Amino acid sequence: MIDNDLISKYAYLDKSAMLARVFSYPNDLKDAVSRYSGLKLQFEVPKPLKGITIAGMGGSFIGAFFLQDLLQDKWELPLFAIKDICLPAFIDRHHLLVAVSYSGNTEETIRIIVEACKKGVPTVAVTSGGLIAEHAEKLGYPVVKLPPGLAPRAAFPYILTALTAIMDYVIPSTNLTQSVAEAASFLERHCDNLLHIALDLSEWMLQNYLTNRLLVVYGYRPYLSACYRLKTQINENAKFHVFFSELPESNHNEIMGWEAPSNLFTLTVRANEEPPHLRYRMEFLLKLWSERGVPFREVRPAKGNRLEELISLFYIFDLASVLLALKRGVDPTPVETISQLKKYLDIRINLRDVLKLL
Ligand code: PA5
Repeated sequence: MIDNDLISKYAYLDKSAMLARVFSYPNDLKDAVSRYSGLKLQFEVPKPLKGITIAGMGGSFIGAFFLQDLLQDKWELPLFAIKDICLPAFIDRHHLLVAVSYSGNTEETIRIIVEACKKGVPTVAVTSGGLIAEHAEKLGYPVVKLPPGLAPRAAFPYILTALTAIMDYVIPSTNLTQSVAEAASFLERHCDNLLHIALDLSEWMLQNYLTNRLLVVYGYRPYLSACYRLKTQINENAKFHVFFSELPESNHNEIMGWEAPSNLFTLTVRANEEPPHLRYRMEFLLKLWSERGVPFREVRPAKGNRLEELISLFYIFDLASVLLALKRGVDPTPVETISQLKKYLDIRINLRDVLKLL
């Protein structure tokens, strides 16, 4: 459950209460389910529907990646997750675009929406406000509202559930939002154990960072979104560099780097029941790292269905990244360099003009 002692211990540093926010994921998921389940949207689902594309950046992208891990090998309908500034050319009127931007002011997502509107691609926006909400009526797309006042990455439970509710609206047989509600209860039942894993992991990462090592997070489908989440959460919360590497692809190129001395340490996300083709690769890598003196760890999700496993990994990693920040003495919430970049761009690019291009 919520560890109030830990929250009090770091209250002096965690000024915007990021730790408490992550502890409240089970409640946030439940709140999100009550807000979004049974969602009705004012737009025509294309017939035939050739695919769904979810676009967003950073904290507003990760929900799309999560859904890909969840559905890609189960759904026949193509599901694209894009973190980019332009719309792939194959997306036409027979696709649905879901554009996610927590602030509603992200240039890349606004440009994608503008392109989609020009091409007549049916679009739904998920946002807490900003220009994307302001222009929705004029440009003719419905908006699913996110609650205001959160850091985009902390809005993950709401973004994920808004996306599942949109999927359920478009393909009513999916019932994904009900599974999110069940996953929230699963998280409640497992959160004590997951906190122990996160505490241990954050300490191990801190000790390695303090010896000037850099982390590489490895993983394979269907856990890539969780690995990427750990990378981006350490970047934004703890303000450290981290690299993310996909298996088995990195067995075909990046693995050569271990022939040179390095200052890396590794964390690999592994399935509870790993098929032999992946287990053999892992055995090889673990032996390689041992021989070369590379510190390594493995993390496995709590045992459950795929959605529950992914949620458990997100919970461990979000907590571990916040704890890593607090243990190294930084406030997890501010992302000063990202804010400076956004200000720099704001002076040079008028997004209202981009919206007028239509
Ligand atoms: O976590 C963050 O603050 C960032 O990764 C943002 O999510 C990213 O810059 C995109 O902004 P927004 O989520 O408002 O579209």
